[in-house]
Amino acid sequence: MLKVLNVVGARPNFMKIAPIMKIMKKQESDFLPLLVHTGQHYDFSMSEAFFKELEIPEPDFYLGVGSASHAVQTAKIMIAFEEVVTKEKPNWVVVVGDVNSTIACALVCAKLGIKVAHVEAGLRSRDRTMPEEINRILTDAISDLLFTTCEEANENLKAEGISAEKIEFVGNVMIDSLFFGLEKAKKSKIRENLGIEGIDYAVLTLHRPSNVDNEENFKQLLEALIEISRKIPIIFPAHPRTKTNMEKFGLEKALNSSQIRLIEPLSYFDFLNLFSGAKFVMTDSGGLQEETTALAIPCLTLRENTERMITVEMGTNELVGTNPERIVAKAFEILDGKFEKVGKTPPLWDGKTAERICNALLRRGYG
Ligand code: UD1
Repeated sequence: MLKVLNVVGARPNFMKIAPIMKIMKKQESDFLPLLVHTGQHYDFSMSEAFFKELEIPEPDFYLGVGSASHAVQTAKIMIAFEEVVTKEKPNWVVVVGDVNSTIACALVCAKLGIKVAHVEAGLRSRDRTMPEEINRILTDAISDLLFTTCEEANENLKAEGISAEKIEFVGNVMIDSLFFGLEKAKKSKIRENLGIEGIDYAVLTLHRPSNVDNEENFKQLLEALIEISRKIPIIFPAHPRTKTNMEKFGLEKALNSSQIRLIEPLSYFDFLNLFSGAKFVMTDSGGLQEETTALAIPCLTLRENTERMITVEMGTNELVGTNPERIVAKAFEILDGKFEKVGKTPPLWDGKTAERICNALLRRGYG
């Protein structure tokens, strides 16, 4: 039986671990799964709400690290996680995505000689000013098993000298959660509560430090978004980082007279219900680029680069950057019915990725 420590820390990790935990719990003669939550995200709306809806069991270990600078947060996770790993001696540790919890836990394992598997390996934005890019490169370099979402990720890993034997192309596990949630999300009352049932609206999310930590950049972006909102209401569930900075820069006032509706972060089902009914989505998130591609919803990515080029090449994603005129022009193109991307679902984004991950771990056995 394989003893596996699954790691989550921040919001985008929960939908990736949920389907893996579910299968491991079901195959109880094959797996002894344990769950570690680092506590990188801790607000109810950023963490617990997702556990409930995605049916993730209570964590076996909660490290409670909270927010801090990158160095402090990463170090705190490492110290607390080392204790857990030393005590539990798992056969495998599974880390997902590209947040600080991902690299911190992978690094602990590499030093202790514990096998670590990285889910969502090989994505590259080639922008090293992005903290996630550093986390991705380093986690991949020290992991024993690399689960990828697309062919381009396989090529990126090989180009960095990672042996093909370590790479397993399994597809996108987040889409497993998306398929699980779609039916349940139909019951959400979010559109009714926001008074947008039956009307056209757009959805906006913003939280990248490059967009919201710099006052000038953030202000310029908002000006473009306010212009778009003259033609279509925009629902904007704001991340805590974004909300704090809006207050700090005094930007909330400008929204009051616009059709941009600033709301609290939403639960998984409410958000799924909201964006799946949107005319289009504007975002700087990674996961949302993939989710909109899977559901064929037009997505404008407000970044200069993306580690998820497959969503641009095959899907409904347009990399519009942060130039205000370009953003407005692209949004108006959609509203004028001129957006031409129909989009196709990438290979193996089929809802069965967690199954392939668990099978691969069993095949590799004790490593
Ligand atoms: C983190 C990830 C990012 C991911 C994002 C998703 C890293 C380096 N970044 O960024 O890749 O896209 O999560 O949300 O790991 N805060 C709260 N409540 C919470 C969590 C955070 O109020 O539950 C506030 C704190 O003020 C904190 C700030 O948000 O300082 C930023 O949180 P942090 O986890 O450091 O980074 P994110 O911006 O959330």
